[in-house]
Amino acid sequence: MSQRENGNIEPVAWANGCIRLLDQTKLPHQVCWVEIDNWRDTASAIRTMIVRGAPAIGCTAALGLALAGRCTIAPGRDAFLDKLQVAADGLCEARPTAVNLSWAVNRLMTLARSIAEVTEIKQALIDEALKMIDEDIQINRKMGKFGAELLPDTCNVMTHCNAGALATAGFGTALGVIRAAVEEGKHVNVFADETRPRLQGLKLTAWELMESGIPVTVITDNMSAALMHTNRIDCVIVGADRIASNGDTANKIGTYGLAVIAAHHKVPFYVAAPVSTFDSSLANGLGIPIEQRDPTEVTHVDGLSLGPQNVAAWNPAFDVTPAELITAIITERGVIRPPFTGSIASILKVAE
Ligand code: MRU
Repeated sequence: MSQRENGNIEPVAWANGCIRLLDQTKLPHQVCWVEIDNWRDTASAIRTMIVRGAPAIGCTAALGLALAGRCTIAPGRDAFLDKLQVAADGLCEARPTAVNLSWAVNRLMTLARSIAEVTEIKQALIDEALKMIDEDIQINRKMGKFGAELLPDTCNVMTHCNAGALATAGFGTALGVIRAAVEEGKHVNVFADETRPRLQGLKLTAWELMESGIPVTVITDNMSAALMHTNRIDCVIVGADRIASNGDTANKIGTYGLAVIAAHHKVPFYVAAPVSTFDSSLANGLGIPIEQRDPTEVTHVDGLSLGPQNVAAWNPAFDVTPAELITAIITERGVIRPPFTGSIASILKVAE
């Protein structure tokens, strides 16, 4: 396994002038990597979920744009920037919900447009994409420290989907909070929803927590109410793909239902996300684009059809949890609480 400091998994890396992705479609049974040397294959890897999770696809898209820059030949700076914009648009279209993707691509395009020489732009794109990977890990560690303060010394924590090292450049957002608490000596038991239909909880979250030696128990998605009713659950922590100005939060399908169940049982519901996940152009969650995926992800498991042939299926990849169900949002700049419209606006103004 490729690992960084402190046992962290490295899902996105730059090696020998290529992007190297840990192939998350093969986990947990095979640990293998895919090497990519052009932006179109990068977009395809994002679309087919070889790499997944909002910050991880942002970092991958940034490296993809750097590849596009390196490979582009054009008769002058303007033509070069036009071609780069085509790649930027193609990368942004790969998956619509996680705003980190367009945030990363736009950051690189702004940088490219600020530089006069094409050769300098090409190098700057690579340097900036690599900087974003390092920054993401530092951000997750900061978020972890803030979030760990919310956890009791011994606790049971529920999570949904994968918001761990695999979903970021390393360490994780929601799982980063859990990792940081464990590093501080706290005893955290994790209950991971399996997360139908793609089973990120079972295949990814359970795998990476076990690799880190953090106790984890998997439940099917329809067990969370019974679990909260019968066991003491201290809190739920999830990641996010996009957060509107009022705190409405898009995350993996099923997050909304979990938040409703948590509210009924008076269990605190925390979202852990970097400030790059906030979309200040949206007043509320109604404007968040929700990716619709192939219905066979619902009717089939690992390619095996489980239902009647050709049955219709609905497959939104994400849902939006209304802000009133969220107890607090953990960011790298601190923990913010309702009313979110004010607290989000204030935290976005804070310089690092
Ligand atoms: O469809 P996926 O696997 O990319 O969805 C991932 C999630 O929904 C994560 O919870 C979210 O991106 C937060 S990642 C730190």
